[in-house]
Amino acid sequence: MTYSKILGTGSYTPERTLTNTELEQLVDTSDEWIQSRTGIVSRQIVVDENTSDLAYQAAERAIKDAGVDKGDIDLFIVATVTPDMPFPGVSQILQRRLGLNTITAFDLNAACSGFVYALNVADKMIRSGAYRLALIVGAETLTKITDYTDRNTCVLFGDAAGAMVLGQSDTPMIKDVVTYANGDIEGHLTMQGYPIKENFKTPEQPRPFLYMNGAEVFKFATTALPKTILTLLERNGMVLDDLSLIVAHQANRRIIDKAARTLKYPMEKMYMNIERYGNTSAASVPLAIDEAIKEGALKKGDTFITVAFGAGLTWGGALITL
Ligand code: ACO
Repeated sequence: MTYSKILGTGSYTPERTLTNTELEQLVDTSDEWIQSRTGIVSRQIVVDENTSDLAYQAAERAIKDAGVDKGDIDLFIVATVTPDMPFPGVSQILQRRLGLNTITAFDLNAACSGFVYALNVADKMIRSGAYRLALIVGAETLTKITDYTDRNTCVLFGDAAGAMVLGQSDTPMIKDVVTYANGDIEGHLTMQGYPIKENFKTPEQPRPFLYMNGAEVFKFATTALPKTILTLLERNGMVLDDLSLIVAHQANRRIIDKAARTLKYPMEKMYMNIERYGNTSAASVPLAIDEAIKEGALKKGDTFITVAFGAGLTWGGALITL
């Protein structure tokens, strides 16, 4: 039986820092409100880079960290809801720039859960025996679709990319991955696309932006996170004490706080870097995993759970031994 394992990780954030104080100049908000309601102090945002530029840097770092030959990579997935353009995908744009062979390369849209979805797909494709070495990336430039006159959303988001190289393993190091979607028919978290146009006319459309019903998403997230963690543990005959760390999607400190209280799990074992990056959607989980490893919060042999939620509504998690 073939399983998969993490061979290397990498991440990248753009240089420009957007502080809460700067946001105070744009909308009716305050550093105090943002920090106390979300935990965010600042975020990194793009100036002239696009999603593929962030993904490129993170991918190069993960490949270097894994010490693999690019020519051996046979699967490339980019999770994003903010591609450079509708097509070609970020994965296809980057395939040549990264110097990869003519391999399977596609984008995957599951919003903030996108990286966990990509992990699930790549793990299963490697387990099938059809693929041997996968590069998976979560990359977003959410600031492109953020309305900087809407205080409900503009304080939350930042730009980033995180990447992971997965290879074959005789033992299940990626122990289990679960992913779910429930169809957000109420439209709690949406980004309008192109409307169906009147035949033969090209209408002038106002630029669409991300819409979020924060309170509803908050309720959903604080239920989905602990439930997913308990599901993963139960399915694998494990308990919370078996985990070295939980790496949750960094959307709001209070969501992670509430999940920890529900689980009666110590807050210091819930990884946190939201104060520096805000919510970076599909990049959030791989960025947090990479930083946790580089900071020594996750070491070889450690078992951890990563868990995410987002538009769709989607959610999911993975139980991993490094
Ligand atoms: N500054 C000051 N006041 C604000 C701000 C702000 N930036 N934003 C909202 N407020 C106000 C509201 O207008 C409201 O005022 P009112 O009572 O006069 O109407 C008040 O603060 C309380 O608003 P709430 O929405 O109840 O604030 P809450 O404490 O719930 O925090 C937040 C809002 C941070 C958005 C929270 O609901 C949240 O984090 N939700 C989850 C968001 C999320 O995780 N999204 C992830 C998915 S993103 C993706 O997939 C692309």
